[in-house]
Order: sequence, then structure tokens, then C-alpha cells
Amino acid sequence: MYLVTGGTGTLGRLVVPQLVQAGGKVRVLSRRPRSAAGEGAAEGIEFVAGDLDTGQGIDAAVAGAEVIVHCAGGRKGDGDKARTLVRAASRAEGLEGAGAPHLVNISVTGADRVPQDGRLDRTMFGYFGMKLDAERVIAGSGLPWTTLRATQFHDLLLMVARAMARLPVIPVASGVRFQPVDAGDVAARMAELAAGPPSGLVPDLAGPRIYPMADLVQSYLRAAGMRRPVVPVRLPGHAAEAVRNGANLAPERAVGRRTWEEFLAERVRR
Ligand SMILES: NC(=O)c1ccc[n+]([C@@H]2O[C@H](COP(=O)([O-])OP(=O)(O)OC[C@H]3O[C@@H](n4cnc5c(N)ncnc54)[C@H](OP(=O)(O)O)[C@@H]3O)[C@@H](O)[C@H]2O)c1
Repeated sequence: MYLVTGGTGTLGRLVVPQLVQAGGKVRVLSRRPRSAAGEGAAEGIEFVAGDLDTGQGIDAAVAGAEVIVHCAGGRKGDGDKARTLVRAASRAEGLEGAGAPHLVNISVTGADRVPQDGRLDRTMFGYFGMKLDAERVIAGSGLPWTTLRATQFHDLLLMVARAMARLPVIPVASGVRFQPVDAGDVAARMAELAAGPPSGLVPDLAGPRIYPMADLVQSYLRAAGMRRPVVPVRLPGHAAEAVRNGANLAPERAVGRRTWEEFLAERVRR
């Protein structure tokens, strides 16, 4: 049985049907309780309520899971979420003869390359430090594990572009580039890794092309039929410098298939 944490999120909700299609039984962890007949319900899928921030419901969620696909994440505390998950999974090992579950974790490209030297770095780019913390918790858990680092999902950049487009003038971090990847491509790889043996840190998954941030914003504005002035802003700090130097990119791993243009054409209407 597979447990998918974050199985209601952008990535996780695409992983779940792939596991079911491959013949697996899937349990989805969510903070929000829902009935088996409710939203997202389907043959082979069970929902359990639990919170990785408080630990509530997590022992029951991991019980009997052979593979845990860990897609839950937030803006803060992913290291602690991983600690809670690992503790529960370690307690579950050996109960009623259960083996150690395989933890399949999603992280971010550059987790180990974006410095967290001071408050400025952590305020703007603390996400990378948080994901590295979670990676280390999982790698040091003593449980079998696999971690995949991916670049930013199309959905995230669309959300950012939409939020920025509400401003009369859009500030864009100068020199910052992204290599957006489709969450569907990442979900397919996560499902493949979940069906395979524990593999440690596997090669990154990045999108097919690299774009300056300003280009991503402009292409969104065009697709949405909007016009806004875009002004470059130079972000201070070591983390921003590392990102300007491409710490968040994996050009040698541009294996994602769906492009930003294809995604925009489907998702944004004038
Ligand atoms: N988005 C990106 O560009 C990107 C890139 C690389 C890696 N990642 C990583 O990929 C993962 C998934 O990202 P996403 O964009 O799919 O996220 P998302 O759409 O924001 O979904 C987050 C998921 O995490 C669950 N969750 C959050 N806090 C939780 C808690 N305390 N306990 C239990 N579940 C909790 C949510 O479930 P409920 O709300 O139902 O409880 C939801 O299913 C994250 O680890 C993220 O860091 C994301």
C-alpha cells in the first residue's frame, strides 16, 4: 500500500492516479477530513486525516504503508514535517511484522546550493534551506529512501505571475532565471521511483527550457491580454546572488517534456 502525503496538492493529486493505474492501493493524507464518497474519491483510494505539523493522525496514516510518497509541503516547517513523518514511519516498522517503508521524497533543485547566510537570505530564499533540512532528515532516518529534486512547477510560476499582475507596476528580480517543469512530468517520475527500489538522491528533473523571470511574466501578461510596466529589481544577499548564478537551474537535466508555452496556452484565457 502506498501512502501519499500531500496527495491533495498540485503534485500529489497527479501522483495518486498514476499509482492506482499501476495497480496500487493508495492512502491519501490530508489535514482536511473527507468521506470516502467525497471529492477525489475513486476505487483504490482511501483518505485519512492527519497533520504533519502537529503529528495528529500520522501514526494511523503510516500504518501498513510499504511506500510513502512524501509530497506534503508548505512555506514553512518542511524539515519538521519530515521529522514527524520519519518518527511515525520508524515506529510503524516492525509492528505486526511490517518492514521498513520506502520514503520517496520530493525536493527542489538547488536545495544544497542556495546559501542561508543571514536573515535576508532566509527571508527571501529560506525555502531552499527548509527543503535541504527535510532531505537530511529523510537521508538520516535509517529508513530506505529516494529523493528527487525538481525545478519550479509551471503552476507555481503561474500563481506568482497572476499575483504580480495585480500590481500596477511589476517588480521583477533582475538576473533571475527559471526552468519551469510540468507537475505532470514530476508526478510520473515520482510514481516510477515509488515503484522502484530505494535509490538515494537521484538526478534532478528540470523543465525543457530556461527563461529570465521577466520573460515568464511578460508571456503570462500576453496570454492574459494584459499590459503592465515591468521594472527590474536587484535582490540583495548571497542567496540571491547564487540564484542569479543559476543555483536553481539544472540545464543538464532538462528532461521535462511539457513546455511553459503549452501550459500557458491551456491554462490562461484572455
Ligand atoms: N511547487 C513547486 O514549484 C515545487 C518545486 C519543487 C518541489 N516542490 C515540492 O513539492 C511538494 C508539493 O508541492 P505542491 O506545489 O504540490 O504543493 P501544494 O499544491 O501547495 O500542496 C501542498 C500539499 O501538502 C499538504 N500539506 C501541507 N501542510 C501539511 C501538513 N501540515 N500536514 C499534512 N499535509 C500537509 C496539503 O494537504 P492538505 O491541504 O489537504 O492538508 C497539500 O496536499 C512540496 O514539498 C514542495 O516543496 C514544489
